[in-house]
This record gives sequence, C-alpha cells and structure tokens, in this order.
Amino acid sequence: MAVTLNTSIHWTSASADDLLMLENLQPNILKEHTRDCSTLLFLKFAQPDEGKAFLRSLVPHLKSTIDHLQEIRAFKSTKVPGTPYVGVGLTATGYAALAIDNVPSDAAFQHGMQGNADLHDPDVATWDVPFRNPAQLHGVIIIGDSKLAPMSKKLAQIQALITAHPGVTVLGSQDGRALHNSNGDGIEHFGYVDGRSQPLFFDEDITAQRLLTDGAQVWNPAFALQQAIVSDPAAPEPDKHFGSYFIFRKLEQNVKRFKEHELTFANTLGLDDKERAGAMLLGRFEDGTPVTAQFADGNHNPVPNNFNYGSDAEGSKCPFLGHIRKTNPRGSGGFGQSEEAERAHLMPRRGLTYGLRTDNPNDGNIQNKPEKDVGLLFMAFNSNIGNQFEFTQVSWANNPKFPEVVAGPFPGVDPVIGQLPKGTPRATVHCPVEWGNPDTVKTVASVPQAVTMKGGAYFFMPSLAFFHAL
Ligand code: HEM
Repeated sequence: MAVTLNTSIHWTSASADDLLMLENLQPNILKEHTRDCSTLLFLKFAQPDEGKAFLRSLVPHLKSTIDHLQEIRAFKSTKVPGTPYVGVGLTATGYAALAIDNVPSDAAFQHGMQGNADLHDPDVATWDVPFRNPAQLHGVIIIGDSKLAPMSKKLAQIQALITAHPGVTVLGSQDGRALHNSNGDGIEHFGYVDGRSQPLFFDEDITAQRLLTDGAQVWNPAFALQQAIVSDPAAPEPDKHFGSYFIFRKLEQNVKRFKEHELTFANTLGLDDKERAGAMLLGRFEDGTPVTAQFADGNHNPVPNNFNYGSDAEGSKCPFLGHIRKTNPRGSGGFGQSEEAERAHLMPRRGLTYGLRTDNPNDGNIQNKPEKDVGLLFMAFNSNIGNQFEFTQVSWANNPKFPEVVAGPFPGVDPVIGQLPKGTPRATVHCPVEWGNPDTVKTVASVPQAVTMKGGAYFFMPSLAFFHAL
C-alpha cells in the first residue's frame, strides 16, 4: 500500500500509509486552519548547525494534519478550541544555508519568485526589505489562531526560541488580521467575500459541501491529494513523508482607487445597477453572489460555489475578464485544455488580509477608503508551482488574450491581479450593459491597477519527520 495521491481521501478511515502521511504533514495544507490573527516571521540562518538546532527546538510547537483534524472534531462536541497553528517553510537558499542536499525539486522553487520575469512583478528595490535579497531569506514561520491572545502567547514562545539561537535572525515580520462582513463571511479589502471556492481533499468535507451548502453537482470541489502535496525529499522516508510548496505574496490594495474606478466603470457602461460593475470585475457581488448566476446580490446564505459558466458562454453575465472567471474558468475553455488539465492549475488558497481599517469596507463611501498599508497576504499551497500559481498568474491573469476561445475582441487582463510589463497600459474590456444580453456588450476602458506586489517568496513546508530527524 502506498500513500493515496490520485484521489481525495476519507481521513476517518485512512489506510495505514495515508495515516502516517497525515501524522507527518503540516496543517493548513489539505484543510484550512483558523488563523484570523496571524504573524509571519521571515528568517535567516547564519550557519547550518544552529539553524538545524533551532528548527529542532520548534518540534514541540508543531502539530500534524491529523492533530488538527482531531481538534476540529473535538471542538464540534466539546466546544474546546484547538491550539494555535505553527507552520514552518524553507526557501531553496534556506536548504543551502542549512547544508541540506535533498532540496525539493520543483524548478520554480529552485529559481525563486524573482526568477520568473513573466510574473511582471515591480522592481525588487520597491519590495519590502525581507524579500529583496533571496540569498538572505531562508525560512518562514506562521503563527495563527482565531483569537489574538493564544496567538500572541505562542508567538512569544517562538520568539524566545529565536532569541536562544543567536545565529537565527528575524529579517522582518508581517501581521495578518481577518476582515468580516455583516453576514460573518470573510472578506478582502475591496469588500468582497473571499476564500469560498477551494479544492477539497477530504471526503468528509466534500460530503458536507454536498449536503450542507448549495451542493456539488455542477462544480465538483473534490481534488486529488497530489494537487497539494509532494514527497519530502529530505525526510527519512520520502515515499511516506510529504510536504507542500508554499507561495507567499504581499499584495497591497489601493482601495480608494479601486472603488473610484468601480464607479467610473459603472458610469461609463451606463449601469443603473452600479453594484454590478464591481461584481463583473470580481465575478461575485460583495456578498459572494456569483454574477453569472443572478443579476443582483442577495444569495449569500450559504455563499454559493456550485456553479459554472455553462449558461454564460458569451460572457454576457460574468465577463471573461472577471477575476474568478480568469483564475478558474470552471470548464468554460482555455487554450483548448481538457477540463482535467484546466483543474490541475487550481490550488488551495490560504490568504489573509493585513492592515487595520477604521471604516466599514461595505459602507459604499469612497472618500474614507485607504490608499495604502492594507492588502492581501496571498498564500497558497502547490505541488507544482509552474503549473499552478505561476500558470494562473502568467497565462491566465496577466494574459489579455485569455480565454482565447472568445469570438471577437480579447478579454483583457485580470482587473484585480493582472500585471503587464512596466509602462504597458491596460487595454479596453468588454462588458454587458444588460445582464445576460450579449447584444448590449460595450467596449470600455479597463480599471487601472489597484493591487501592488510588495514582495514574496516560494517556500517548502516539510514533513514533521524532517524536523524530528534534523
Ligand atoms: C489583492 C489580491 C486579490 C484579491 C482582492 C482577490 C479577491 C478574490 C475574491 C473576492 C475571490 C472570490 C472568493 C472565492 O471564490 O473564493 C477570489 C477567488 C479566487 N482568487 Fe483571488 N484575489 C486576489 C489575489 C489572487 C491571486 C494572486 C490569485 C492567484 C494567482 C488568485 C486566485 C483566485 C482563485 C483561484 C479564486 C477562486 C476562483 C474560483 O474557484 O471560482 N487571487 N479572489
């Protein structure tokens, strides 16, 4: 028996090999860990022995995926909250700094985020300090919890371990704090429900999605484990011990600019229902209602995810440029790929907002909106960075021609995250004035870029067996 990779699994009746894998896999990869209050510490190791000793000292603070799943089950019956999440990742230069030879093999991981010019990221000199020099950035620790007090307590314990190892330096830290709307759903700074559509890896969660939400007949949320995990080459038994590539990008949001241009966009299109302008840019209304499913908001209990673009082949409900249509076409076409190949680009997203707000993101007021110092800490787990995060950013979001199956003009770049080469203006976009009426599609100027990449890196989150064996 080997670890199951080609399907989702039932964790409560996992095979012995799957259980061993889950006992050694860090949490938050196959199933989201609550982490509304989080701090990330970016680290440098001066020399291998002390770096390894430090990582070994973290072991009592690391829980496994199985521990996490059991905590969730216990919470349901006892209401006793689980323990904080501590996640640890290493960069390719981190492996070198620790003198570990069996480096995870993903080519993009080894080249680093700065190695792909097609991402069209801003000049590295404008990035936050910890990310400017990949030779110095060796590791990350994420400490997260639903509440600030337990997170701060755990953070203090980890900081004490760092202090006890003078060869370990904190290059910088980043706090993340979740935002919620009045329905209690998690939102990002532009005010839209985020984090709803995720690949699910456990059959228990897939059944719950089918029975307790809007269902799973139209959009299948079930994914094989190999979409998120890979063998850990530096663990004692790589065929039994697994890890995942962790993508981190700090994306600053100029909320005022985006909201101003949402309004301009609505006015240029001549929309009476101005909310629909933003919904067409994101693909969902602020409350999470998919714009391909209905012309107005209000379908948020639960937030739907059981939809595709089958009844919207001309992009007359959700335009082709809509952020969620660009980043997950849901089988509606892309470079002639099979649906299976297209689904292989998706990834579990574990993002978190950063920056504090004094206003209400959904109050409809534009003048009180922040222009900087708030944004999204985009975090995701990949098994193949080139085919997942980089493909999504480069071939879908940044590519004005995607999807190219569209008859007529190109859709344009993703209005939220699309990045073009420096100095290249965004082209025009095509949106329906009347919801569902292709005859009313109008060509108007795109909204300008309101998201700025402030730095990031690729990490590998090794198995717990790796840390035990250091
Ligand atoms: C500040 C930056 C970003 C904002 C404001 C943002 C906003 C959102 C929102 C509101 C949703 C809808 C919620 C959901 O369906 O779960 C969403 C979904 C999604 N986003 Fe983003 N996002 C950002 C960055 C990114 C990046 C960098 C990527 C990948 C390169 C990405 C990929 C996705 C994907 C794959 C989905 C799910 C689409 C689906 O399955 O229907 N996002 N995003």
